Amino acid sequence: MRINPETVDRIKQSADIVEVVGDFVSLKKKGANYSACCPFHNEKTPSFNVNPVRQIYKCFGCGAAGDSIKFIMDIDGVGYGEALRYLADKYQIEIEEEEVTDEEAARQNARDSLYIILNYAKNYYQQQLTENEEGQAIGLSYFRERGFTKDILNKFELGYSLEQWDGLTKSALAKGYSAEVIEKAGLLIHKEGSRSSGYDRFRGRVIFPIHSVAGKVIAFGARILKADKSQPKYLNSPETEVYHKGEVLYGIFQAKNAIRQQESCYLVEGYTDVLSLHQAGIENVVASSGTALTVEQIKLIARFTSNITILYDGDIAGVKAALRGLDLVLEEGLNVNVVLFPDGDDPDSYVRKVGAETFKTYIRSASQDFIAFKTKTLLQDAGNDPFKRAEVISEMVQSIVKIPDAIKRQVFFQRTADMMGVDEQMLISEGNKYIRKQQKQKPAERGRNPGFQQDLQDAGVGSPSHPFEDGPPPNLFDPGFEESAPASQTRSPLYFQEEAFIRLLVLHGCRELEPDITVCSYVLGEIDGIEFEEPIFAQLLLLFRENHSRNIVLETDYFVHHRDADIRNLAIEWVTEKYELSSLWKDKFEIFVPFETDVLDKTAFINILRLKKAFVENKMNICLQQLKQGSYEADEIALMKEFIFYKGISMAAAKELGRVVG
Ligand code: UTP
Ligand code: MN
Repeated sequence: MRINPETVDRIKQSADIVEVVGDFVSLKKKGANYSACCPFHNEKTPSFNVNPVRQIYKCFGCGAAGDSIKFIMDIDGVGYGEALRYLADKYQIEIEEEEVTDEEAARQNARDSLYIILNYAKNYYQQQLTENEEGQAIGLSYFRERGFTKDILNKFELGYSLEQWDGLTKSALAKGYSAEVIEKAGLLIHKEGSRSSGYDRFRGRVIFPIHSVAGKVIAFGARILKADKSQPKYLNSPETEVYHKGEVLYGIFQAKNAIRQQESCYLVEGYTDVLSLHQAGIENVVASSGTALTVEQIKLIARFTSNITILYDGDIAGVKAALRGLDLVLEEGLNVNVVLFPDGDDPDSYVRKVGAETFKTYIRSASQDFIAFKTKTLLQDAGNDPFKRAEVISEMVQSIVKIPDAIKRQVFFQRTADMMGVDEQMLISEGNKYIRKQQKQKPAERGRNPGFQQDLQDAGVGSPSHPFEDGPPPNLFDPGFEESAPASQTRSPLYFQEEAFIRLLVLHGCRELEPDITVCSYVLGEIDGIEFEEPIFAQLLLLFRENHSRNIVLETDYFVHHRDADIRNLAIEWVTEKYELSSLWKDKFEIFVPFETDVLDKTAFINILRLKKAFVENKMNICLQQLKQGSYEADEIALMKEFIFYKGISMAAAKELGRVVG
């Protein structure tokens, strides 16, 4: 099922950006707009703006921008559909869904029925914990003994599974759930070909429901309470249609707001670490639940913060697991710190022992950045063996080149050189070697190290994974090299002219220059026959032309709320840069910035002339290049004619510009 377009429209029309944002941050009215401290980055002076007329928000600090739907997607870390459902709920709009393909519908129904049975199971286990005699005597008293409060039990919806073969299954079947769905949810184990009806996966264990980012129960972890060496301490749900272990972090739903507010996330190993830290008032914490970190898990954290502190047991397995995770975090451009706990303690036992304040102090003092941590650990292993030390250098260099930010990379090279007592330049040229080697590899051979999803048990220091996912890796140390070079460096004058032109159409296309002559029709007439080079501007120009031929002039709002994120972001950028920046300046410096519309007809005219000029100059350049390459004589003459033709237009435009601008 898919939310039908009419419902989407109704939601978009009902949702008011001020109300929607206002549920999350407190907005102050400022002129026609509202402002606040940005919920997406940490700041003291408000640079987050909400424009009720355009129904958009924009942060001038971090660049976050969009409409109500985008805001919910980002603040809640949910997808488009989920954000729509949230808004529908807020505005009490009944969602009408439309059939998609049978297959798609079946899959959606299957997923929904899994969510429903998982939620049923969660309630069942909770009830067993609090109301059943066995649950109280064994499960509840276990949690009490560990010192967990009722609040924590409720917040994490903890439960208990009875010491019975089919307690849950029987109860669910009686409620009308099918055995097939119970099995698909990972709750019932039914051996294929067996005549018996199967048995509950979780029996005689305390239950930790695992929630999605949006708070749906998607799986369970279950801890044994008996000393039974033949059974694993924790049993977890298998992979199901709704549970992909490598993409989930335990506690993310309960932690996400705190992570955003604190601008940092603690990453621990176990369920009970998460619970204890929450109980101690430290709520920005999630657990990897005994698996080595995956890229997906890191990206999940990165939706909310770029600062991660890994809190691991001080034992070797923990240390090595942390090492493996770290390179992944670096590739994602995140800041990583590591805290190891005194022997025998995990975050759970430690916070219990020393309390929240000492715990926080300890984290601050024991926190090491990734480089210091990894260098130290590897050096310890290497001892004085010069060959091993050389290996450490190469290992460290390989980690550092994964950091996407050039400045950070430089700092890390410096620090590592210091720690290892080697020359910084030597490390940098090692890095260059490594990258060159990577460049020679065929693209097909590159890809991520598949080992990172293995379990903690076989966690070793991962073989180097490849830092760049697409395209040959650039040399990070060439002077002048800039990874993801700011696009403006590679943009031609033509780009800016095309942008200026489309911007004018998007912002002012509807305005009338004279009665019945809109900016749009005037401008389009003047540049008839010209095509744009930049794909997105060409696409927008085509949109204007097609609609104009049907006597429709597209309005600014059409673009500001466009489906295509690139178009939407451009439009928001254009809408906000003048109006809102100018009002900010006005407020700050009491400067009057004239509205562009005041001088609109002149601007339109100048833009057209500039565009024309840039356009023909580009054509002239192409002619020249072709001439230089040397072609047949006939072509040469044609090219020269073309060149002279454009030159004429260019000169006329220049003269006209001089007149108008002057
Ligand atoms: P730990 O063995 O450190 O358990 O495993 P813990 O979290 O400290 O739990 P308590 O304090 O003994 O109750 C860390 C995590 O690894 C996963 C679980 O997610 C656990 O929280 N794990 C551990 C498993 O999935 N299976 C196991 O058999 C053991
Ligand atoms: Mn523990």
